[in-house]
Amino acid sequence: MVVPPDVAAAIIAADRPVCVYVYDRATLRANVDALRAALPPGTKVAYAMKANGDDRVIDALRGHVDGFEVASGGELAAVAGEPFVLFSGPAKTDADLRAAVAAGAVVNVESLHELRRLLVYGQPKVCLRVNRTHPALPGTHAMAGVPTAFGLDESALPAAFGIAGDVVGFHLHAVSNNLDAAAHAAFIRDAVAWALDAAARWDVPAPIINVGGGFGVDIAGDGRFDLDVFAAGLRDLDLAGATLVVEPGRFVAATAGWYATEVIDVKRTHGRWFVVVRGGTHHFRLPASWGYSHPFTVLPVDAWPYPFDRPGVTGATVDVAGEQCNPRDVLARDAAVASVRAGDVLVFANTGAYGWEVAHHDFLRHTHPQFMIV
Ligand SMILES: Cc1ncc(COP(=O)(O)O)c(C=O)c1O
Repeated sequence: MVVPPDVAAAIIAADRPVCVYVYDRATLRANVDALRAALPPGTKVAYAMKANGDDRVIDALRGHVDGFEVASGGELAAVAGEPFVLFSGPAKTDADLRAAVAAGAVVNVESLHELRRLLVYGQPKVCLRVNRTHPALPGTHAMAGVPTAFGLDESALPAAFGIAGDVVGFHLHAVSNNLDAAAHAAFIRDAVAWALDAAARWDVPAPIINVGGGFGVDIAGDGRFDLDVFAAGLRDLDLAGATLVVEPGRFVAATAGWYATEVIDVKRTHGRWFVVVRGGTHHFRLPASWGYSHPFTVLPVDAWPYPFDRPGVTGATVDVAGEQCNPRDVLARDAAVASVRAGDVLVFANTGAYGWEVAHHDFLRHTHPQFMIV
């Protein structure tokens, strides 16, 4: 993996010992553009900011996406003033619902009880989140087609329309990290057909059909979500006046982030090489939570501040361990390196989504990483 020159320059300019996330505006925007080009014309792209809610990332995407998908009152506040905001989440508080109505957000309503509470606060824009019955999609975090805490059962629709007459559409997010573009296109076709049918039945004119996110990124391998296959699968999709909405998170942010962390020590115990870094899984959580080894590149740093020898190893297989007093704090295992020394910097690409956001930052109170955008 080649570290782009502007990203490498930012890493080299970081404070020592280096521990930094670098995000790249151009990649964020290019990912939006690529996805948009594969979707039917007029589709609204709402960035799911849960994937990376850094203010610099949000600012880079303002005006470039059609809107934002938020999942908490905090996220809603972060995009205050944006014209198109969609609010999901199965446990919205009354304060969340009040703020969503005041902000003019589309509320993706997750239950009948939530719908009743929402209507207390005025004239909301209601999309009914429906957990439809459909075959499971490939990917992770299945949220529809299986029993989950998300959305309404299809059988609850008559009751929902009995409570709220002026629903604006349906929210049908189903899965995360699906790399099978043909299956995802088929899911969207099926979701659109279902929503158009439901809209006709319940008299929802020109509905919003929100098919959510879930466009996958193979962060540690060389698979990919094939946008040509995806576009072919959606060709000539007739939306019959509906507005299609997608909520990509991972696809926009994953490849736009690099996590770089300095090697503090290199050592061998019980016949195994360990490269110990200043950061770890409390900054980039995915290797620990998904149980895989994240690829990295060694950025050599020749400066060495001590008068004594520099620990290092050449031509070896190493584990990259973090700074926590916890043997599970491992970013990479059995990784082949040509050379790595204390003071060098390891750069992990494809770390822009669900890395920092889902990590337990304050475990052990280590200093947080720096954050930069290029
Ligand atoms: C409602 C909703 N929309 C969008 C997303 C974004 O999913 P992804 O990052 O896989 O595109 C999620 C992820 O959990 C979600 O729950």
